[in-house]
Amino acid sequence: MREAIAEQLLTARARTALLTDAVDDADLTAQHSRLMSPLVWDLAHIGNQEELWLLRNVGGQDPMHPEIDPLYDAFQHPRADRPALPLLPPAEARRYTAEVRGRVLDLLDGAELSGPPLLRAGFAFGMIAQHEQQHDETMLITHQLRSGGAVLTAPAPAPAPGDRLPPEVVVPAGPFTMGTDTEPWALDNERPAHLVELPAFAIDTVPVSNAAYQAFIDDGGYRRPDCWSTEGWAHRQEAGLTAPLHWFEQDGQWLRRRFGRVEPVPPEEPVLHVTWYEAEAYARWAGRRLPTEAEWEKAARHDPATGRSRRFPWGDGPPGPEHANLGQRHLQPAPVGSYPAGAAPCGARQLIGDVWEWTASDFGPYPGFRAWPYREYSEVFFAPPGRPAEYKVLRGGSFAVAPVACRGTFRNWDYPVRRQIFAGFRTARDLPAEA
Ligand code: AVJ
Ligand code: FE
Repeated sequence: MREAIAEQLLTARARTALLTDAVDDADLTAQHSRLMSPLVWDLAHIGNQEELWLLRNVGGQDPMHPEIDPLYDAFQHPRADRPALPLLPPAEARRYTAEVRGRVLDLLDGAELSGPPLLRAGFAFGMIAQHEQQHDETMLITHQLRSGGAVLTAPAPAPAPGDRLPPEVVVPAGPFTMGTDTEPWALDNERPAHLVELPAFAIDTVPVSNAAYQAFIDDGGYRRPDCWSTEGWAHRQEAGLTAPLHWFEQDGQWLRRRFGRVEPVPPEEPVLHVTWYEAEAYARWAGRRLPTEAEWEKAARHDPATGRSRRFPWGDGPPGPEHANLGQRHLQPAPVGSYPAGAAPCGARQLIGDVWEWTASDFGPYPGFRAWPYREYSEVFFAPPGRPAEYKVLRGGSFAVAPVACRGTFRNWDYPVRRQIFAGFRTARDLPAEA
Protein backbone atom coordinates (compact mmCIF):
# COMPACT_ATOMS: atom_id res chain seq x y z
CA MET A 1 0.00 0.00 0.00
CA ARG A 2 2.75 2.46 0.95
CA GLU A 3 4.60 1.73 -2.30
CA ALA A 4 1.39 2.10 -4.31
CA ILE A 5 0.77 5.50 -2.74
CA ALA A 6 4.35 6.66 -3.29
CA GLU A 7 4.08 5.48 -6.89
CA GLN A 8 0.91 7.53 -7.49
CA LEU A 9 2.52 10.63 -5.97
CA LEU A 10 5.58 10.12 -8.14
CA THR A 11 3.53 9.63 -11.31
CA ALA A 12 1.59 12.82 -10.65
CA ARG A 13 4.77 14.79 -9.98
CA ALA A 14 6.48 13.55 -13.14
CA ARG A 15 3.50 14.82 -15.14
CA THR A 16 3.47 18.17 -13.31
CA ALA A 17 7.18 18.52 -14.13
CA LEU A 18 6.57 17.67 -17.78
CA LEU A 19 3.85 20.30 -18.08
CA THR A 20 5.76 23.04 -16.29
CA ASP A 21 9.27 22.34 -17.65
CA ALA A 22 7.97 22.47 -21.24
CA VAL A 23 7.84 26.28 -21.22
CA ASP A 24 10.10 29.09 -19.98
CA ASP A 25 9.54 31.25 -16.91
CA ALA A 26 7.82 34.04 -18.80
CA ASP A 27 5.37 31.52 -20.18
CA LEU A 28 4.79 29.97 -16.75
CA THR A 29 3.81 33.31 -15.24
CA ALA A 30 1.79 34.57 -18.23
CA GLN A 31 -1.96 34.28 -18.43
CA HIS A 32 -2.78 32.43 -21.63
CA SER A 33 -6.53 32.78 -21.17
CA ARG A 34 -8.68 34.65 -18.67
CA LEU A 35 -10.42 31.32 -18.12
CA MET A 36 -7.24 29.81 -16.73
CA SER A 37 -4.61 30.47 -14.06
CA PRO A 38 -0.97 31.06 -14.95
CA LEU A 39 0.72 27.63 -14.88
CA VAL A 40 2.89 28.77 -11.96
CA TRP A 41 -0.27 29.24 -9.88
CA ASP A 42 -1.35 25.62 -10.42
CA LEU A 43 2.16 24.48 -9.55
CA ALA A 44 2.30 26.19 -6.15
CA HIS A 45 -1.40 25.43 -5.47
CA ILE A 46 -0.59 21.73 -5.89
CA GLY A 47 2.13 22.07 -3.25
CA ASN A 48 -0.04 24.21 -0.99
CA GLN A 49 -2.97 21.73 -0.96
CA GLU A 50 -0.51 18.92 -0.29
CA GLU A 51 0.98 20.86 2.60
CA LEU A 52 -2.46 21.67 4.00
CA TRP A 53 -3.92 18.18 3.88
CA LEU A 54 -0.92 15.97 4.46
CA LEU A 55 1.63 17.94 6.47
CA ARG A 56 -0.75 20.04 8.57
CA ASN A 57 -3.98 18.01 8.88
CA VAL A 58 -2.49 14.53 8.89
CA GLY A 59 1.03 15.28 10.14
CA GLY A 60 0.14 18.03 12.62
CA GLN A 61 3.00 20.17 11.30
CA ASP A 62 3.10 23.97 11.42
CA PRO A 63 2.45 25.95 8.23
CA MET A 64 5.62 26.41 6.19
CA HIS A 65 4.67 29.81 4.73
CA PRO A 66 1.30 30.86 6.18
CA GLU A 67 1.45 34.17 4.30
CA ILE A 68 1.08 32.45 0.93
CA ASP A 69 -2.00 30.39 1.85
CA PRO A 70 -4.55 33.01 0.73
CA LEU A 71 -2.86 33.35 -2.69
CA TYR A 72 -3.47 29.70 -3.46
CA ASP A 73 -6.98 29.45 -2.08
CA ALA A 74 -9.10 28.96 -5.21
CA PHE A 75 -12.13 30.54 -3.51
CA GLN A 76 -10.40 33.80 -2.60
CA HIS A 77 -9.22 34.76 -6.08
CA PRO A 78 -11.00 34.02 -9.37
CA ARG A 79 -8.73 32.73 -12.12
CA ALA A 80 -8.79 36.00 -14.07
CA ASP A 81 -7.28 37.83 -11.06
CA ARG A 82 -4.49 35.39 -10.30
CA PRO A 83 -1.75 36.83 -12.57
CA ALA A 84 -1.87 40.10 -10.58
CA LEU A 85 -1.20 38.35 -7.25
CA PRO A 86 2.29 38.33 -5.68
CA LEU A 87 2.70 34.65 -6.62
CA LEU A 88 5.83 32.67 -5.90
CA PRO A 89 8.10 33.00 -8.96
CA PRO A 90 8.79 29.73 -10.85
CA ALA A 91 12.01 28.77 -9.03
CA GLU A 92 10.43 29.35 -5.61
CA ALA A 93 7.22 27.56 -6.57
CA ARG A 94 9.29 24.56 -7.65
CA ARG A 95 11.37 24.64 -4.46
CA TYR A 96 8.26 24.89 -2.27
CA THR A 97 6.38 22.00 -3.92
CA ALA A 98 9.52 19.85 -3.83
CA GLU A 99 10.11 20.59 -0.14
CA VAL A 100 6.51 19.72 0.71
CA ARG A 101 6.86 16.46 -1.23
CA GLY A 102 10.06 15.51 0.59
CA ARG A 103 8.35 15.91 3.95
CA VAL A 104 5.26 14.05 2.70
CA LEU A 105 7.33 11.02 1.75
CA ASP A 106 8.85 11.02 5.27
CA LEU A 107 5.35 11.22 6.71
CA LEU A 108 4.15 8.37 4.51
CA ASP A 109 6.90 6.10 5.86
CA GLY A 110 5.46 6.20 9.36
CA ALA A 111 1.77 6.94 8.69
CA GLU A 112 -0.88 4.71 10.32
CA LEU A 113 -2.89 3.77 7.23
CA SER A 114 -5.66 1.85 8.93
CA GLY A 115 -6.63 4.09 11.83
CA PRO A 116 -8.13 7.58 11.50
CA PRO A 117 -10.80 7.98 8.79
CA LEU A 118 -8.76 10.52 6.83
CA LEU A 119 -5.98 7.96 6.48
CA ARG A 120 -8.04 4.80 6.01
CA ALA A 121 -6.66 2.96 2.97
CA GLY A 122 -4.41 5.97 2.49
CA PHE A 123 -7.36 8.19 1.52
CA ALA A 124 -5.74 11.60 2.20
CA PHE A 125 -2.71 10.60 0.12
CA GLY A 126 -4.99 9.33 -2.63
CA MET A 127 -7.02 12.52 -2.55
CA ILE A 128 -3.83 14.57 -2.98
CA ALA A 129 -2.54 12.39 -5.84
CA GLN A 130 -5.91 12.87 -7.55
CA HIS A 131 -5.83 16.60 -6.84
CA GLU A 132 -2.44 16.98 -8.48
CA GLN A 133 -3.57 14.98 -11.52
CA GLN A 134 -6.74 17.09 -11.80
CA HIS A 135 -4.61 20.22 -11.89
CA ASP A 136 -2.35 18.55 -14.44
CA GLU A 137 -5.41 18.22 -16.66
CA THR A 138 -6.20 21.88 -15.99
CA MET A 139 -2.62 22.78 -16.96
CA LEU A 140 -2.96 20.76 -20.14
CA ILE A 141 -6.07 22.81 -20.98
CA THR A 142 -3.94 25.94 -20.46
CA HIS A 143 -1.36 24.48 -22.85
CA GLN A 144 -4.10 24.01 -25.44
CA LEU A 145 -5.16 27.66 -25.05
CA ARG A 146 -1.60 28.96 -25.22
CA SER A 147 -0.53 30.60 -28.47
CA GLY A 148 2.84 29.88 -30.02
CA GLY A 149 4.60 26.78 -31.26
CA ALA A 150 4.19 23.24 -30.05
CA VAL A 151 6.11 22.28 -26.90
CA LEU A 152 4.40 18.97 -26.06
CA THR A 153 4.56 15.80 -28.11
CA ALA A 154 3.05 12.34 -27.83
CA PRO A 155 2.41 9.52 -30.29
CA ALA A 156 -0.98 9.41 -32.02
CA PRO A 157 -3.39 6.71 -30.82
CA ALA A 158 -3.65 3.57 -32.98
CA PRO A 159 -6.43 3.38 -35.59
CA ALA A 160 -9.69 1.79 -34.39
CA PRO A 161 -9.99 -1.97 -35.07
CA GLY A 162 -12.74 -1.26 -37.59
CA ASP A 163 -15.10 -4.05 -36.55
CA ARG A 164 -18.74 -3.33 -37.40
CA LEU A 165 -20.52 -1.74 -34.46
CA PRO A 166 -24.23 -1.07 -34.05
CA PRO A 167 -24.86 2.70 -33.75
CA GLU A 168 -26.55 2.21 -30.37
CA VAL A 169 -26.84 -0.41 -27.65
CA VAL A 170 -29.81 -1.22 -25.43
CA VAL A 171 -29.80 -1.14 -21.65
CA PRO A 172 -32.89 -3.00 -20.39
CA ALA A 173 -35.14 -1.60 -17.63
CA GLY A 174 -34.35 -2.39 -14.02
CA PRO A 175 -32.47 -1.30 -10.94
CA PHE A 176 -28.72 -0.82 -10.63
CA THR A 177 -26.32 0.37 -7.96
CA MET A 178 -25.13 3.93 -8.55
CA GLY A 179 -22.21 5.42 -6.60
CA THR A 180 -20.01 3.56 -4.15
CA ASP A 181 -19.34 2.69 -0.51
CA THR A 182 -16.30 0.58 -1.23
CA GLU A 183 -13.98 2.47 -3.61
CA PRO A 184 -11.21 3.42 -1.17
CA TRP A 185 -10.26 6.70 -2.88
CA ALA A 186 -13.72 7.74 -4.10
CA LEU A 187 -14.49 11.38 -3.35
CA ASP A 188 -17.49 12.46 -1.28
CA ASN A 189 -19.81 13.18 -4.24
CA GLU A 190 -19.51 9.55 -5.46
CA ARG A 191 -20.97 8.29 -2.19
CA PRO A 192 -23.06 6.59 -0.94
CA ALA A 193 -24.03 3.63 -3.11
CA HIS A 194 -27.78 3.62 -3.76
CA LEU A 195 -30.23 1.74 -5.95
CA VAL A 196 -31.63 3.55 -8.98
CA GLU A 197 -34.48 2.15 -11.05
CA LEU A 198 -34.40 3.11 -14.74
CA PRO A 199 -36.68 2.40 -17.69
CA ALA A 200 -35.06 0.82 -20.75
CA PHE A 201 -33.01 3.15 -22.93
CA ALA A 202 -30.63 3.06 -25.86
CA ILE A 203 -27.27 4.83 -25.85
CA ASP A 204 -24.69 5.48 -28.58
CA THR A 205 -22.09 2.72 -28.81
CA VAL A 206 -19.33 5.33 -29.15
CA PRO A 207 -18.97 9.06 -28.56
CA VAL A 208 -20.23 11.43 -31.28
CA SER A 209 -17.46 11.80 -33.87
CA ASN A 210 -16.17 14.90 -35.62
CA ALA A 211 -17.70 13.59 -38.86
CA ALA A 212 -21.13 13.24 -37.24
CA TYR A 213 -20.80 16.66 -35.65
CA GLN A 214 -19.75 18.13 -38.98
CA ALA A 215 -23.01 16.83 -40.51
CA PHE A 216 -24.86 18.89 -37.89
CA ILE A 217 -22.84 21.97 -38.85
CA ASP A 218 -23.35 21.33 -42.58
CA ASP A 219 -27.09 20.93 -42.03
CA GLY A 220 -27.21 24.45 -40.57
CA GLY A 221 -27.33 23.26 -36.96
CA TYR A 222 -25.83 26.50 -35.68
CA ARG A 223 -28.43 28.57 -37.58
CA ARG A 224 -31.54 26.65 -36.57
CA PRO A 225 -33.11 27.81 -33.30
CA ASP A 226 -35.44 24.78 -33.39
CA CYS A 227 -32.43 22.58 -32.53
CA TRP A 228 -31.58 24.58 -29.44
CA SER A 229 -33.14 25.19 -26.02
CA THR A 230 -34.04 28.83 -25.30
CA GLU A 231 -31.02 29.22 -23.03
CA GLY A 232 -28.80 27.39 -25.46
CA TRP A 233 -29.82 29.55 -28.41
CA ALA A 234 -29.30 32.72 -26.34
CA HIS A 235 -25.79 31.54 -25.54
CA ARG A 236 -25.12 30.51 -29.13
CA GLN A 237 -26.07 34.04 -30.23
CA GLU A 238 -24.21 35.90 -27.51
CA ALA A 239 -21.01 33.86 -27.83
CA GLY A 240 -21.23 33.69 -31.63
CA LEU A 241 -20.74 29.92 -31.68
CA THR A 242 -20.36 28.38 -35.16
CA ALA A 243 -18.16 25.31 -34.54
CA PRO A 244 -16.26 23.61 -31.69
CA LEU A 245 -13.54 25.67 -30.02
CA HIS A 246 -10.17 25.50 -31.84
CA TRP A 247 -11.84 24.69 -35.20
CA PHE A 248 -11.60 27.07 -38.16
CA GLU A 249 -12.53 26.82 -41.81
CA GLN A 250 -10.02 27.43 -44.58
CA ASP A 251 -10.73 26.98 -48.30
CA GLY A 252 -13.78 24.90 -47.50
CA GLN A 253 -11.89 22.58 -45.15
CA TRP A 254 -12.23 22.37 -41.38
CA LEU A 255 -8.91 22.63 -39.56
CA ARG A 256 -8.14 22.67 -35.87
CA ARG A 257 -5.36 23.88 -33.66
CA ARG A 258 -4.10 21.25 -31.24
CA PHE A 259 -1.30 22.02 -28.79
CA GLY A 260 0.36 24.46 -31.17
CA ARG A 261 -0.11 22.50 -34.40
CA VAL A 262 -2.67 23.01 -37.15
CA GLU A 263 -4.19 19.94 -38.79
CA PRO A 264 -7.34 18.84 -40.63
CA VAL A 265 -10.13 17.88 -38.23
CA PRO A 266 -9.89 14.06 -38.04
CA PRO A 267 -13.35 12.71 -38.93
CA GLU A 268 -13.07 9.52 -36.84
CA GLU A 269 -12.16 11.20 -33.57
CA PRO A 270 -14.75 11.99 -30.87
CA VAL A 271 -15.76 15.65 -31.06
CA LEU A 272 -14.03 17.78 -28.42
CA HIS A 273 -14.42 21.31 -27.05
CA VAL A 274 -18.18 21.75 -27.27
CA THR A 275 -20.43 23.37 -24.67
CA TRP A 276 -23.26 21.47 -23.00
CA TYR A 277 -25.62 23.61 -25.11
CA GLU A 278 -23.99 22.47 -28.35
CA ALA A 279 -24.22 18.84 -27.20
CA GLU A 280 -27.89 19.36 -26.41
CA ALA A 281 -28.53 20.99 -29.83
CA TYR A 282 -26.74 18.20 -31.69
CA ALA A 283 -28.82 15.60 -29.84
CA ARG A 284 -32.07 17.40 -30.74
CA TRP A 285 -30.99 17.70 -34.34
CA ALA A 286 -30.33 13.94 -34.37
CA GLY A 287 -33.79 13.29 -32.86
CA ARG A 288 -32.18 12.13 -29.64
CA ARG A 289 -31.18 13.50 -26.22
CA LEU A 290 -28.23 13.46 -23.84
CA PRO A 291 -28.14 10.50 -21.45
CA THR A 292 -28.85 11.26 -17.81
CA GLU A 293 -26.00 10.74 -15.39
CA ALA A 294 -27.70 7.60 -14.03
CA GLU A 295 -28.10 6.20 -17.54
CA TRP A 296 -24.45 6.85 -18.28
CA GLU A 297 -23.35 5.07 -15.10
CA LYS A 298 -25.69 2.13 -15.66
CA ALA A 299 -24.37 1.72 -19.21
CA ALA A 300 -20.81 1.88 -17.88
CA ARG A 301 -21.05 -0.30 -14.75
CA HIS A 302 -24.10 -2.53 -14.62
CA ASP A 303 -23.37 -6.21 -15.16
CA PRO A 304 -26.66 -7.99 -15.93
CA ALA A 305 -25.03 -11.40 -15.37
CA THR A 306 -24.35 -10.70 -11.69
CA GLY A 307 -26.59 -7.70 -10.97
CA ARG A 308 -23.50 -5.93 -9.59
CA SER A 309 -21.98 -2.62 -10.62
CA ARG A 310 -18.39 -2.91 -11.81
CA ARG A 311 -15.60 -0.49 -10.93
CA PHE A 312 -14.95 0.03 -14.65
CA PRO A 313 -16.84 -0.94 -17.82
CA TRP A 314 -14.48 -3.88 -18.44
CA GLY A 315 -14.52 -5.20 -14.88
CA ASP A 316 -12.94 -4.47 -11.52
CA GLY A 317 -9.30 -4.39 -12.64
CA PRO A 318 -7.39 -1.12 -13.07
CA PRO A 319 -7.24 0.63 -16.46
CA GLY A 320 -4.54 -0.67 -18.78
CA PRO A 321 -3.51 0.76 -22.15
CA GLU A 322 -5.76 -1.83 -23.84
CA HIS A 323 -8.85 -0.54 -22.01
CA ALA A 324 -8.85 3.21 -22.37
CA ASN A 325 -7.05 6.33 -23.52
CA LEU A 326 -6.05 7.90 -20.20
CA GLY A 327 -3.13 9.65 -18.56
CA GLN A 328 -2.00 11.95 -21.39
CA ARG A 329 -0.35 9.03 -23.20
CA HIS A 330 -1.73 10.70 -26.31
CA LEU A 331 -2.51 14.37 -26.81
CA GLN A 332 -5.90 13.63 -28.40
CA PRO A 333 -8.83 11.22 -28.17
CA ALA A 334 -8.61 7.87 -29.98
CA PRO A 335 -10.83 7.20 -33.03
CA VAL A 336 -14.38 6.06 -32.24
CA GLY A 337 -14.61 2.28 -31.96
CA SER A 338 -11.21 1.95 -30.26
CA TYR A 339 -10.52 -0.19 -27.19
CA PRO A 340 -12.81 -3.19 -27.69
CA ALA A 341 -11.23 -4.67 -24.50
CA GLY A 342 -12.62 -1.71 -22.58
CA ALA A 343 -16.24 -2.25 -23.66
CA ALA A 344 -19.02 -2.35 -21.05
CA PRO A 345 -21.33 -5.37 -20.70
CA CYS A 346 -23.94 -3.49 -22.79
CA GLY A 347 -21.40 -3.19 -25.61
CA ALA A 348 -20.72 0.56 -25.37
CA ARG A 349 -17.09 1.58 -25.93
CA GLN A 350 -14.86 4.41 -24.75
CA LEU A 351 -17.02 5.29 -21.77
CA ILE A 352 -13.78 5.75 -19.85
CA GLY A 353 -11.09 7.99 -21.33
CA ASP A 354 -10.87 9.93 -24.63
CA VAL A 355 -13.40 12.71 -23.90
CA TRP A 356 -15.39 13.83 -20.88
CA GLU A 357 -19.03 13.19 -21.74
CA TRP A 358 -21.67 15.80 -20.99
CA THR A 359 -24.77 14.30 -19.39
CA ALA A 360 -28.27 15.78 -19.17
CA SER A 361 -28.01 15.97 -15.37
CA ASP A 362 -27.41 18.81 -12.92
CA PHE A 363 -24.63 18.30 -10.37
CA GLY A 364 -26.18 17.44 -7.01
CA PRO A 365 -25.79 15.22 -3.96
CA TYR A 366 -26.74 11.54 -3.91
CA PRO A 367 -29.31 10.58 -1.24
CA GLY A 368 -27.42 10.39 2.05
CA PHE A 369 -24.51 12.59 0.86
CA ARG A 370 -22.09 13.81 3.54
CA ALA A 371 -19.43 16.42 2.72
CA TRP A 372 -16.01 14.88 3.40
CA PRO A 373 -13.35 15.84 4.16
CA TYR A 374 -14.16 19.42 3.11
CA ARG A 375 -17.28 21.23 1.84
CA GLU A 376 -15.34 23.02 -0.89
CA TYR A 377 -14.59 19.88 -2.87
CA SER A 378 -18.22 19.24 -3.91
CA GLU A 379 -20.93 20.64 -1.70
CA VAL A 380 -20.48 24.31 -2.51
CA PHE A 381 -21.10 23.48 -6.19
CA PHE A 382 -24.48 21.84 -5.60
CA ALA A 383 -27.60 23.91 -6.29
CA PRO A 384 -28.43 26.03 -3.24
CA PRO A 385 -31.88 25.15 -1.81
CA GLY A 386 -34.63 26.63 -3.99
CA ARG A 387 -32.19 27.84 -6.64
CA PRO A 388 -31.50 26.33 -10.06
CA ALA A 389 -28.35 24.25 -10.45
CA GLU A 390 -25.44 25.98 -12.17
CA TYR A 391 -23.35 22.94 -13.08
CA LYS A 392 -23.88 19.99 -15.41
CA VAL A 393 -22.29 16.60 -14.79
CA LEU A 394 -19.61 15.16 -17.06
CA ARG A 395 -18.62 11.50 -16.89
CA GLY A 396 -15.95 9.10 -18.00
CA GLY A 397 -12.80 11.20 -18.18
CA SER A 398 -10.70 12.46 -21.08
CA PHE A 399 -7.34 11.44 -22.53
CA ALA A 400 -5.94 13.93 -20.01
CA VAL A 401 -7.35 12.15 -16.95
CA ALA A 402 -4.98 9.95 -14.96
CA PRO A 403 -6.06 6.44 -13.95
CA VAL A 404 -5.84 7.43 -10.27
CA ALA A 405 -8.51 10.08 -10.81
CA CYS A 406 -10.79 7.86 -12.87
CA ARG A 407 -13.44 5.23 -12.10
CA GLY A 408 -16.94 4.30 -13.18
CA THR A 409 -18.31 6.34 -10.27
CA PHE A 410 -16.19 9.48 -10.80
CA ARG A 411 -18.18 12.70 -11.29
CA ASN A 412 -16.97 15.91 -12.88
CA TRP A 413 -18.99 19.09 -13.30
CA ASP A 414 -18.82 22.41 -15.09
CA TYR A 415 -20.89 25.32 -16.38
CA PRO A 416 -22.94 24.48 -19.49
CA VAL A 417 -21.12 27.25 -21.41
CA ARG A 418 -17.66 25.74 -20.83
CA ARG A 419 -15.79 24.38 -23.80
CA GLN A 420 -12.10 24.81 -23.18
CA ILE A 421 -12.33 21.54 -21.20
CA PHE A 422 -11.75 18.22 -22.97
CA ALA A 423 -15.47 17.54 -23.32
CA GLY A 424 -17.52 15.71 -25.93
CA PHE A 425 -20.66 13.62 -25.55
CA ARG A 426 -22.76 10.70 -26.74
CA THR A 427 -26.54 10.63 -27.19
CA ALA A 428 -29.37 8.40 -26.00
CA ARG A 429 -33.08 7.83 -26.49
CA ASP A 430 -36.05 6.37 -24.63
CA LEU A 431 -37.22 2.93 -25.64
CA PRO A 432 -40.89 2.05 -25.68
CA ALA A 433 -41.91 0.14 -22.54
CA GLU A 434 -42.17 -3.59 -23.16
CA ALA A 435 -45.66 -4.78 -23.97
C1 AVJ B 1 -13.66 18.28 -10.04
C2 AVJ B 1 -12.39 19.03 -11.89
C3 AVJ B 1 -14.28 20.29 -11.15
O1 AVJ B 1 -10.63 21.28 -11.18
O2 AVJ B 1 -12.20 22.54 -10.42
C4 AVJ B 1 -9.24 20.80 -8.11
C5 AVJ B 1 -11.23 19.49 -9.07
N1 AVJ B 1 -11.01 20.70 -6.87
N2 AVJ B 1 -9.00 21.48 -6.97
C6 AVJ B 1 -11.65 21.46 -10.52
C7 AVJ B 1 -10.49 20.31 -8.05
C8 AVJ B 1 -10.08 21.44 -6.23
C9 AVJ B 1 -12.30 20.29 -9.77
N3 AVJ B 1 -13.14 19.47 -10.71
FE1 FE C 1 -7.26 22.58 -6.50
